[in-house]
Amino acid sequence: MTTTLVTGGAGYIGSHVVVALLQAGHEVVVVDNLVNGSEVAVERAGELGGGSPIFEQVDLTDRPALRSVFADHTIDAVVHLAGLKAVGESVAQPVRYYRANVIGGINLVEAMADFGVWRLVFSSSATVYGDPRFLPMTEDHPLGAVNPYGRTKLMQEEVFTDVAASDERWRVALLRYFNPVGAHASGRLGEDPSGAPNNLMPFVMQVALGRRDQLVVFGDDYDTPDGTCIRDYVHVVDLADGHVSAIEALERFPGCRAWNLGTGAGHSVLEVVHQAGAASGREIPLSVGPRRPGDAVASVASVERARVELHWEASRDLGAMCADHWRWQTQNPDGYPPPSPSGD
Ligand SMILES: NC(=O)c1ccc[n+]([C@@H]2O[C@H](COP(=O)([O-])OP(=O)(O)OC[C@H]3O[C@@H](n4cnc5c(N)ncnc54)[C@H](O)[C@@H]3O)[C@@H](O)[C@H]2O)c1
Repeated sequence: MTTTLVTGGAGYIGSHVVVALLQAGHEVVVVDNLVNGSEVAVERAGELGGGSPIFEQVDLTDRPALRSVFADHTIDAVVHLAGLKAVGESVAQPVRYYRANVIGGINLVEAMADFGVWRLVFSSSATVYGDPRFLPMTEDHPLGAVNPYGRTKLMQEEVFTDVAASDERWRVALLRYFNPVGAHASGRLGEDPSGAPNNLMPFVMQVALGRRDQLVVFGDDYDTPDGTCIRDYVHVVDLADGHVSAIEALERFPGCRAWNLGTGAGHSVLEVVHQAGAASGREIPLSVGPRRPGDAVASVASVERARVELHWEASRDLGAMCADHWRWQTQNPDGYPPPSPSGD
């Protein structure tokens, strides 16, 4: 039996990873400070995955508290998703981002080594590639983040790469996510953004729900078939399964290695709006605004390495991503409820 520690397991992607790990037969311990997560998501992940994840409310920057988690549980592997992730906020509050993400990551690998835990799967991001120089982007694409959030991801990748090179017992997977969207098909788990969503899909869905008046499309004069930007959207349940595949692959890959997790297919903003309209049965009012500085025209993953080496491939299409997101949103219009002592 493998016991896997999931940092950030009360968050959007982490709660889906908890389900996938439980379904694959792991015992799960979740560490999360709840700055953007919910204990109810962990409870629901347990119900959906058929297990009982243990929840520890701990901040990764609190070294003694983090170490006591390793002292109290026998951990075999770690999936590290905890962190702050809003690009705009990272520009306004860079120190907060470097502390939570970079210092948090350093504390984690230090505790792992001290307690003899050598397998780490890290939530990285396609943002470490900076502006795409060729498409689809392979893992050998040049690196160069363009904002503080991206740099915290790149710095963590560099720290983990150096740490893995320092001791041959380490096995580290750097998973570079493209654009995770969607929700668990049950409608019980999903993204619970506080405030205005930073990403297209939750924003579009809130327009469909009537919570926002309209979507502003940032530019429709790009060199793409319909003039809007193209991204590689990947269903969060496919993404979560990729973490189980990565833990298994670490048996075959010593050291540190990067894998892209995407679908390899790009969809434009207008395609997302169209599919979201079909999934919700609602009209999605939109207007076209100016281009947003820093937006790449297109970003699409090369998924070959993950397919061959992780034996993982995304299977859910944009229609499923929209339908599942809509189900979550309509069943949980206010996000997760507060936790109750007897569960929700
Ligand atoms: N969602 C995306 O589009 C996307 C894309 C690429 C990479 N990622 C990465 O995937 C990971 C998970 O993203 P998500 O979308 O699920 O975000 P999320 O905010 O829903 O989840 C992150 C979780 O980490 C917790 N957390 C934050 N700082 C912490 C700290 N110092 N100590 C303990 N817990 C802390 C939060 O409470 C939250 O539950 C993040 O590392 C993010 O950078 C996300």
